[in-house]
Amino acid sequence: MRISVIGAGYVGLVQTAIMANIGHDVMCVDSDPEKIKKLKNGECPIYEPELQDMIEDAKAQIFYGNTVEQAANWGEIVFVCVGTPEKEDGSPDLQYIDNVAKEIGESMREHIIVVNKSTVPPGTAHRVKEIIQKYQKFPTTFDVVSNPEFLREGCAIHDAMNGDRIVIGTDNWKTAEKLIEAYQELQTQVFLTDTISAEMIKYASNAFLATKISFINAIAQICEQVGADVKEVARGMGLDHRIGDKFLGAGIGWGGSCFGKDTSALIHIADQIGYDFKMLKATKEINEQMPKEFIQKIQTNLNGVNDKIIGVLGVAFKPDTDDMRDARSIPIIQKLVKEGAIVKVYDPVAKHNAEKILTNVQWTNTIEELAENTDAILIITEWKEFKDIKWREIKQKMRNPRIFDGRNMFEEEEMKRIGYEYYSIGRPNKEGIHNQ
Ligand code: UDX
Repeated sequence: MRISVIGAGYVGLVQTAIMANIGHDVMCVDSDPEKIKKLKNGECPIYEPELQDMIEDAKAQIFYGNTVEQAANWGEIVFVCVGTPEKEDGSPDLQYIDNVAKEIGESMREHIIVVNKSTVPPGTAHRVKEIIQKYQKFPTTFDVVSNPEFLREGCAIHDAMNGDRIVIGTDNWKTAEKLIEAYQELQTQVFLTDTISAEMIKYASNAFLATKISFINAIAQICEQVGADVKEVARGMGLDHRIGDKFLGAGIGWGGSCFGKDTSALIHIADQIGYDFKMLKATKEINEQMPKEFIQKIQTNLNGVNDKIIGVLGVAFKPDTDDMRDARSIPIIQKLVKEGAIVKVYDPVAKHNAEKILTNVQWTNTIEELAENTDAILIITEWKEFKDIKWREIKQKMRNPRIFDGRNMFEEEEMKRIGYEYYSIGRPNKEGIHNQ
């Protein structure tokens, strides 16, 4: 099948790689010439495990271009994967979707299925249909489908290949059949519904996941005060199938390109129809509170941070990505610097993106270099490699062996045995520090 993908961001590139590996001939277009140049040279413009290899493996089946016109006249299915960033009032900015719809209208010459993968407010498929109709130069039939994307950064390929469901929103059975055929190889269950419900499923899913994390973070606050261990609590809760054990990891909160933007959008959508979505507002508030609580904990235990040397392990919004969007590291580091701390930073992958945002910090290339002379080390992103840190050796390099673990990667007992003061989230400190 001939497939087009408009937008070479996370969603578009993963869609390109998956469709080409299935065996389809894919035209991937992006208005950014730099991105396309890189792709044509075999270079993936984003860091995402397995993506580069998948694109390389299927390179004979991937074609690149810069215009919507090329996409509209290549594929029988045209996936729209452009950004819907957050506007100042919290609503999603649909200008890129609208522009693509207009250009598709102006350039399409034969029947196509326009598939919206971008996260868009309920009713957008209808809006796209109207725009295409308005600008159509060559009258032909077409259909607009909603097919929201649920992949997570850092494991996007795995998620796309092993998704829990493919949601297809359409009012046309023949169109659905065509799309199911395009995805058939993945053998993922398909959930067929109408376009507006499909669009809503995406917002509701992300809002629910963000709420689940904020809920456990609120529980963590209580755990610290009453002497419970939030990890144990989450484990015990997760055994109940109705709750499930996923997304109950307490920490300094969620970040990334989706949760913040999509919760804001849903609050805005609700506001517009006169529903005050208090619960989702609280989800966001708790998330904003988590870095503040963390900083407070550092300040209290360090007796202020002015002139203290603090090492930060991990700055990406989560492991296995170089994405810094809405990363919790940003408010934490900025506040520490403002309070007079000397902040040293290490991240295995995100440095090139983070440097632009986190100024006034010292970048280090190794964890040993980071630890040198520090009064505390903060764990902000739970990169797997941090599990293998030789903490005994690191301790020798530090001025004061203290760890503030914002992701609950380690156990207090273990760290105390090595001689660290250890603080985490939702796990009260036990008395007595053993030194060895
Ligand atoms: C999310 C959704 O999971 C995905 O379905 C959607 O398509 C896009 O948004 P993503 O933002 O890539 O994916 O990452 P995700 O793994 O969901 O993590 C989001 C944030 O939540 C990260 O900052 C992560 O550190 C945090 N998180 C996740 C927790 O704090 N605790 C958890 O238990 C899980």
